[in-house]
Amino acid sequence: MLEKQNIITIDGPAGVGKSTVSRMVAAATGFTYLDTGAMYRGVGLFLQDNAVDLQDQQAIGKLLQTLDLQLLPASGVSADVGVLINNRDVSLEIRTPAMSMVASDVSALAVVRDYLTSMQRSYGERGGVVAEGRDTGTVVFPAAAFKFFLDAEPEERARRRYSQLKAKGMDADVEEILAMTLLRDKNDRERDIAPLAQAEDASLIDTTDINIEKVVSLILQKVNKGL
Ligand code: DC
Repeated sequence: MLEKQNIITIDGPAGVGKSTVSRMVAAATGFTYLDTGAMYRGVGLFLQDNAVDLQDQQAIGKLLQTLDLQLLPASGVSADVGVLINNRDVSLEIRTPAMSMVASDVSALAVVRDYLTSMQRSYGERGGVVAEGRDTGTVVFPAAAFKFFLDAEPEERARRRYSQLKAKGMDADVEEILAMTLLRDKNDRERDIAPLAQAEDASLIDTTDINIEKVVSLILQKVNKGL
């Protein structure tokens, strides 16, 4: 059996509240928060800016060798992780609904997943990480000591995303967000490599009818028992 890593993984579909929950769990445990979605968003923007053909994995691989991707820590539990691509701050640009779809599209490419998975593993080498994403419990950190999978009804997830975008002052339409959420779920669940899935040894938390604080306390209860 693999030796367990001192890592908490929090996976699940779009809009389920993973980021807020992960940041709160990181604050409570003193672990570092690793937002793997922000990395896919940064790579998506970089590939889009370079107008590379997404069918040409060789060209993408070459281009990725010229990318310096840096994460900027979130400034609080309600703030997003920032991203620098080749020293350009793209923290706001990567958070639009259009970039969510671009990130989902590029995340299906083997060359992109290999590049980011190894970067994510190096962040986790020394443990003490809360990793959030779609495949952190299944593929990136299969030996993580604590794994959670959050889920919620799509309509509730769309409502949450709508409120988040509104709070950021962005234009939003709840029906459009629901359609995009369903499309992104399908993309993320049905891709061949590292699809969105619950790890066999992950605890499932249905967050449809419970608030963020309750989700965090359920996670901390399990983690505190095991630490
Ligand atoms: O969590 P997010 O909405 O920021 O993620 C954006 C997209 O990135 C998501 O639709 C799929 C992809 N992603 C992924 O494939 N694997 C991860 N571990 C994290 C995100």
